Amino acid sequence: MAIVSSLSTKHLLGIKYIQKDDIETIFRTADNFKEVLSRPVKKVPSLRDVTIANLFFENSTRTKMSFELAEKRLSADVINFSASSSSVKKGETLLDTVNNILSMKVDMIVMRHPAPGTPFYLSQNIDASIINAGDGTHEHPTQALLDAYSIREKHGEVKDKKIVIVGDIKHSRVALSNIFCLKKLGAQVAVCGPATLIPKHIESLGVQVFYNLKKALEWCDIANVLRIQLERQDIKFIPSLREYAMYYGVNRDILESLSKKITIMHPGPINRGVEISSDVADSEQSIILDQVENGVAIRMAVLYLLAGQVS
Ligand code: CP
Repeated sequence: MAIVSSLSTKHLLGIKYIQKDDIETIFRTADNFKEVLSRPVKKVPSLRDVTIANLFFENSTRTKMSFELAEKRLSADVINFSASSSSVKKGETLLDTVNNILSMKVDMIVMRHPAPGTPFYLSQNIDASIINAGDGTHEHPTQALLDAYSIREKHGEVKDKKIVIVGDIKHSRVALSNIFCLKKLGAQVAVCGPATLIPKHIESLGVQVFYNLKKALEWCDIANVLRIQLERQDIKFIPSLREYAMYYGVNRDILESLSKKITIMHPGPINRGVEISSDVADSEQSIILDQVENGVAIRMAVLYLLAGQVS
């Protein structure tokens, strides 16, 4: 497997900061790794002698396991850090923690952190490549890449497709990264949700806004359904989850009332019966598990392409 391209950047801090060419390079590289992952032996030696630290300061199932699997499939050495059991609890600064980890000859950092901008701050203060695995309400670039890659796989291309992102847009890093990624690839993008969960001036990003779910679903080819991020809400933005489900829950009845069959996506974790019903999440219109599967190939591609820039 010969891959010669690299990215225009040393870090992956957000989709906002990369070029359309970078996204296309990542997709082509992920195509190669998808083929590798279909083989009986799913491991390649590409990152032998590269050491990667996964620093997760916030909970994760999919992203953490997907990065770790991607790193192991590439034969990297992997160390994992969890904030709840670390010396951060004893008052150490983030920069001291990371510099201590780097002094153990670590080459790359994958970081999830609840504070927006933390990976950017680190990138200004350390030499290693940083991959943002989700920073608060800011960006989740590898999620957006795997989402767009899954659309390309299902629909042939992303350009000119109509995609609506439904739900808690205000608190969602997935929404922001998806908007940047899909717009760069030439898609038409809309958001839909209650007015309290739609950020002011979001139209300035070139997206359409729907407040009515049925109209949004009639418009789109693909609906990416998000959960309500209760952990990021210190005040109430909706009266109750039951009322949210009544007006914005994607269920079988609303899908059957449409004039066409749309594709359903969700980045996970899903809250069954709130933003999506079980019969939709598990239906043949849903590509939720394809998204998870594609996440490993996308993260292998990002790691591989950025490792080419490790000095
Ligand atoms: N989609 C996503 O980021 O899921 P996790 O929080 O489980 O990593």
